[in-house]
Amino acid sequence: LSDWSSDVCSSDLYRRRSQIAALPFGEFVCNTRLTSNMIVPVKKNDELESKIEEAIKNPRNLGEMKDADAIGTVGSADCGDMLRMWIKFKEENGRKVIDRATFQSFGCQTAIAVASVATEMLRGKTADEAKSMSGEELAAPLGPLPPVKIHCAQLVEGALRSALGAETTAPRSNRSE
Ligand code: FES
Repeated sequence: LSDWSSDVCSSDLYRRRSQIAALPFGEFVCNTRLTSNMIVPVKKNDELESKIEEAIKNPRNLGEMKDADAIGTVGSADCGDMLRMWIKFKEENGRKVIDRATFQSFGCQTAIAVASVATEMLRGKTADEAKSMSGEELAAPLGPLPPVKIHCAQLVEGALRSALGAETTAPRSNRSE
């Protein structure tokens, strides 16, 4: 979690560390691209980097929830990473709303950062309201993600939809090739 410059798919990290270490700070890569020996530099975004770095330093709602009402797990076909989300509901003003959402991630730093901000946003939403949120909306507090990282937000969307029993439309690949 401490090395922002290694923001790559965890499944690839151990095999490609020498390549990754050579990347300049601020470039996003993904293992599917590294596997094909392609590295796609993305315009440096200081604001996004600092927001993700901040979320990684102090991730919110991290960890298993023993008394959860719903659990969802999803894996990304793009990178092999996984994310699990736990949700607890409560009654509020005659509505059943999300009291708390937590997560565990076997994914990259961006997925962790999105899950951190998303689980904060979910509090107080009904299941239908939560189900209608896209990965982009769940990642909104971080700002727009670069194309190669959109699937990281979709991993969070997929875990949420899995937990809420919604048809899973995510993660899906929106990367430009
Ligand atoms: Fe796999 Fe982000 S690179 S979830």
